[in-house]
Amino acid sequence: MNLSQSPMPDAANLPTTTPDGTTRDRAVLLDGKVVSASIREEIAAEVRELIANGGRAPKLVAILVGNDGASETYVASKIRNCGLVGFDSAVERYDASISEQFLLERISLLNDDPGIDGILVQLPLPKHISVQKVTEAIRPEKDVDGFHPVNVGRMVQNLPCFLPATPYGILLLLQHYGIRTEGLHCVVVGRSNIVGMPASILFSRNAEPGNCTVTLAHSRTRDLAGHCRKADIIVAALGKPRFIKADMVKDGAIVVDVGITRVPAPETKSGFRIVGDVDFEAVAPKCSYISPVPGGVGLMTIIGLLKNTLRAARKEVRF
Ligand code: GUN
Repeated sequence: MNLSQSPMPDAANLPTTTPDGTTRDRAVLLDGKVVSASIREEIAAEVRELIANGGRAPKLVAILVGNDGASETYVASKIRNCGLVGFDSAVERYDASISEQFLLERISLLNDDPGIDGILVQLPLPKHISVQKVTEAIRPEKDVDGFHPVNVGRMVQNLPCFLPATPYGILLLLQHYGIRTEGLHCVVVGRSNIVGMPASILFSRNAEPGNCTVTLAHSRTRDLAGHCRKADIIVAALGKPRFIKADMVKDGAIVVDVGITRVPAPETKSGFRIVGDVDFEAVAPKCSYISPVPGGVGLMTIIGLLKNTLRAARKEVRF
């Protein structure tokens, strides 16, 4: 079967032994489409309840600077998902030439607006704007991306905080499938502030999912393939299409693919295709669980964001 041609690829039909020692005759797909729809329904029910009790709908504001095609798509998807669960939302679009000072002042106004619960500034930003300054400008109570150093520090110490949306989404995905991670060896490939670094912290925390022995591998790691081969869980978040090959994965591993790279595909209507960091067709037959791209972690990132925005609206995270 050519897996790449099916809209939601199914993992291949070979026996695998899971990290907990059970055997199954095919890898289970970590299906972000199914899981995100189910969690969206839960969030929508909570919003209805909030409003029935006299509250207002949670509100997210997304700021988009410049015309990056991928960012446009991600923000549109975030806003669409807000609508699906009954949130209010708005996008503020600015030309790539705006000054850093203008953006910081805009964030300050949103911080002070009691009608806005969550603020996100879509990354990447134009080079003349400091990501660090912008990240720190968003008040931690409204930082639904979970990027502010206060939220990152509190995450490290296992204190109430907003978790970064992508690693949070990964945990929700594993949780949905009842995967217990305690005691497993997790290799995270990629050390970005958005995914790899926080994922390494979350998988090592004394929590479930968590309690893993974590290796954080990156561009300077020696014998990356050797580390991956020892992993019970691989989180591939390095942004290199199809980098993780079958000979880097041990039988029965759980593989989570965070990669979302647009590659040219003249045969498609849009002219591009989304490709993950894992060589899915070759790797899937060896796995106990594997997430597809598209249809896996990307959808769960939005769920992480929605859950954070709901918690922000309910003032559930106290600093
Ligand atoms: N760019 C890529 N991923 C993200 C994300 O999760 N949040 C924001 N704000 N920008 C991103």
